Amino acid sequence: MRLVPWQPEDLLRRLDDVVSVYGEAMGYRSELLQTRRGYIGAHARRRGFRAVATLTTEGSLAGFGYGYRSGPGQWWHDQVRSALDEDDRRHWLTDCFEVVELHVRPAAQGHGVGARQLRALLAMADGRTVLLSTPEADEERSRAWRLYRRFGFVDVLRDFLFPGDERAFAILGRELPLAERPVNARRDAG
Ligand SMILES: CC(C)(COP(=O)(O)OP(=O)(O)OC[C@H]1O[C@@H](n2cnc3c(N)ncnc32)[C@H](O)[C@@H]1OP(=O)(O)O)[C@@H](O)C(=O)NCCC(=O)NCCS
Repeated sequence: MRLVPWQPEDLLRRLDDVVSVYGEAMGYRSELLQTRRGYIGAHARRRGFRAVATLTTEGSLAGFGYGYRSGPGQWWHDQVRSALDEDDRRHWLTDCFEVVELHVRPAAQGHGVGARQLRALLAMADGRTVLLSTPEADEERSRAWRLYRRFGFVDVLRDFLFPGDERAFAILGRELPLAERPVNARRDAG
């Protein structure tokens, strides 16, 4: 497995693979994936876009992650902003990188790929804070939650409902940069 930084063009060139990894990782149906495909293509053009990919030795896509600078006028940013008080807005949203997607194909999960992708993405990210949203789940049993907690993400909002989605999400955040050698690190964690 090889971790590589991606330019917007790299992601756009491999959009089919990206959508396939995303669909497998999240277990989403194909109708929903088509809508997502359009969003992902548009995200690659946003300010401060950063992406990483994990390729197998044969060059197939095992995982990817990307994000960009979070700002007013973006749907996600505006939803989160509206739920925060003034102090939290200032702290979390003034100079913020959003991790938008982070996925690993199920067959490749559990070998540190997700942790390496997150570490690399945050090392390239521009911002004083990083935010992400993840579906509410049992923290002990969810791999995503364990990963984010290991990286030092704290609760910013819990049980948050985005319009049009009945699932509850948590908004998690931490300050940047990541420590070079974190005290509580486990393997690739931060
Ligand atoms: C969440 C996700 C990105 C994590 O990626 P991953 O590659 O499975 O995660 P990692 O392998 O880095 O970490 C998983 C485990 O492997 C362990 N691990 C880390 N480095 C390792 C290594 N070098 N060798 C073996 N195991 C390792 C970790 O300790 C971790 O253990 P834990 O789950 O008991 O805490 C991935 O599981 C995924 O795509 N899930 C579905 C989609 C999803 O939930 N995405 C996030 C939505 S916001």
